[in-house]
Amino acid sequence: MSDTPTVIPRSPAPDDTLAFLKDGYLYGTRRFRKLDGDAFEARLAGTRAVVMHGREAASVFYEDDRFSRERAMPSSVQHLLQDEGSMQTLEGEPHRHRKSMFMRMLDEASVARLVEAFEREWARVRAEHAGHEVPLYDVGNLVLTRAALAWSGVPAQRVDDRELAGRLAAMVDAASTIGPVNWAARVRRRRAEDWAAELVADVRAAHVHADPASAIRTIADGSDDHGAPLPEEVAAVEVLNLLRPIVAVSRFLVFTVHAMHTHPQWHAVVESDADAATRVTNEVRRHYPFFPVIAGTVRRPFEWRGREFEPGERAILDLYATNHDPRSWDEPGRFLPERFEGWDGDPNTLVPQGGGDAATGHRCPGEAATIALTARFAQLAARRPFSVPDQDLRISLRHIPALPMDRMRVEMRP
Ligand code: HEM
Repeated sequence: MSDTPTVIPRSPAPDDTLAFLKDGYLYGTRRFRKLDGDAFEARLAGTRAVVMHGREAASVFYEDDRFSRERAMPSSVQHLLQDEGSMQTLEGEPHRHRKSMFMRMLDEASVARLVEAFEREWARVRAEHAGHEVPLYDVGNLVLTRAALAWSGVPAQRVDDRELAGRLAAMVDAASTIGPVNWAARVRRRRAEDWAAELVADVRAAHVHADPASAIRTIADGSDDHGAPLPEEVAAVEVLNLLRPIVAVSRFLVFTVHAMHTHPQWHAVVESDADAATRVTNEVRRHYPFFPVIAGTVRRPFEWRGREFEPGERAILDLYATNHDPRSWDEPGRFLPERFEGWDGDPNTLVPQGGGDAATGHRCPGEAATIALTARFAQLAARRPFSVPDQDLRISLRHIPALPMDRMRVEMRP
């Protein structure tokens, strides 16, 4: 891999778990700087791991099936964001087969329908809150839940959309917590799973009519790589793996408003130019903090930076540090959407949703949907449908996942 084998240094502390909790998104960055390298070894959550960042590290982590996600994350995270039998726990042919189902559900035409549903729901919620001050994060969760349900083909009478929005958002909000907050979110996750399992059973039994082209029908009819139908509980988990991250796009909506509020010159540019909206979106995804890291377990031996990686060892790719790596990005701390003009599209430098290739590796299959939703919202927000009252706009990098202190309150114009 690297022409110049170097030794991967160790973090000086015997255990870095508390340091990770304390430093949050900057945990890796501070140590890469101090140890002057793009990787180091540390003890985290009870096991040793190599923490790495940068374009080359991302390609090592994401390409050639070197890593699985098995036992890579602490169970408090795993139970909220993945589950037994879900796509993220699969590798090789079973993974590729399941992934192709997601890529079909999220192809260009389907993403366009999702964006249309989002615009409809945004208009509705805007009217509902006209003249009121609301936290955009919560409103975004509701708009995206309604859009995801309508787009995926779930009949409105099958669900309390406000309750589901709360359950789906809680899974992401609480993923980095431990103790009661995490347990409460797990209970809410189980309720959401029960709801999804019942829905899958009813679609299969034709008690619920679902359009043949809908995502809910695709999952209900889904099979494994040997042609066997997906077990009901696995299909239910995949329903959540589709709905939950669409709702999570709400964080990027918040960050978009934060960015345009603090850099108001972008309103006029974005309103009339869809490409500029996409550049702003990519800079929002690069600049603002969301998933800090992704952990993987070595599947087969390989060598990198003069070190042998043995099966079962853990590595952690620092997504935040890679998105802010000065070797890939000039002035990484500044919000500069123009950096994406003529960008080469390297898959391993802009990695808020993973690196490598989505079709063959674990990179997010929802990236095009995320970009399309956020860019469309940037254009809607550029028309200033709300004002931004005085509030605490600070975003703590110690809190994972991050949000502005006041959840980005906006006052909807009538
Ligand atoms: C809200 C913005 C989003 C962020 C920050 C995000 C982030 C990520 C990341 C970092 C991964 C890679 C995990 C890994 O390497 O193991 C991933 C995977 C995944 N994402 Fe997203 N995602 C987002 C939106 C979406 C959307 C909209 C969908 C679906 C509609 C989606 C569905 C998935 C699925 C199913 C996987 C697992 C892929 C696999 O294991 O092959 N995500 N996401």
